[in-house]
Amino acid sequence: MVSKLRTLIAYLTYSGNTQEVATLIQENLQIKGVETAVHRIGIDPPVDPAVYDIIFLGTFTWDRGSTPDEVKDFILEVGYKPDNVAIFGTGDTQFGGDDLFCRAVDKLVKFYHSPWRGLKIEQSPRGKQEQFVKDWVEGVLDHGKNHAGKSKDVRTIKSK
Ligand SMILES: Cc1cc2nc3c(=O)[nH]c(=O)nc-3n(C[C@H](O)[C@H](O)[C@H](O)COP(=O)(O)O)c2cc1C
Repeated sequence: MVSKLRTLIAYLTYSGNTQEVATLIQENLQIKGVETAVHRIGIDPPVDPAVYDIIFLGTFTWDRGSTPDEVKDFILEVGYKPDNVAIFGTGDTQFGGDDLFCRAVDKLVKFYHSPWRGLKIEQSPRGKQEQFVKDWVEGVLDHGKNHAGKSKDVRTIKSK
């Protein structure tokens, strides 16, 4: 029997845009029959990321290209760098133009050596950006199949 891909969607939001992206990601995953769990950073109790095949990590950017402290705390709480983290985020080009747009996404992609490009959404994803989310999720899943069933190995390796 082929086991279902297990995914975690962890995100931080203040005004709802990043949450909307998280919800769209969840909908797109569920359409594909993928199991999803959601973790609201700064609200929900700690999770064990090692039991998931893919971890979707979402954040907005603020304070001139910064990653919010709550996301940094989440990273510390996890305590190691999983090799299966896909990064998404929202931002606004009005804050510093293209240079600073969703800079936190770029930083986290680099930090985790993510095998996937980061998804950057301007404000709310509703409307034409919904397709970006769909295409990105499909791209992550294509590669993510290689991770299926390896999640326990990740925990074993990283806990050493
Ligand atoms: C004080 C402040 C600073 C911001 N700085 C940036 C920034 O440097 N780069 C960027 O892309 N967006 C920036 N933004 C825009 C937010 O990232 C954007 O509105 C985001 O969608 C908010 O996410 P949320 O609705 O999930 O809270 C800033 C917003 C605020 C209020």
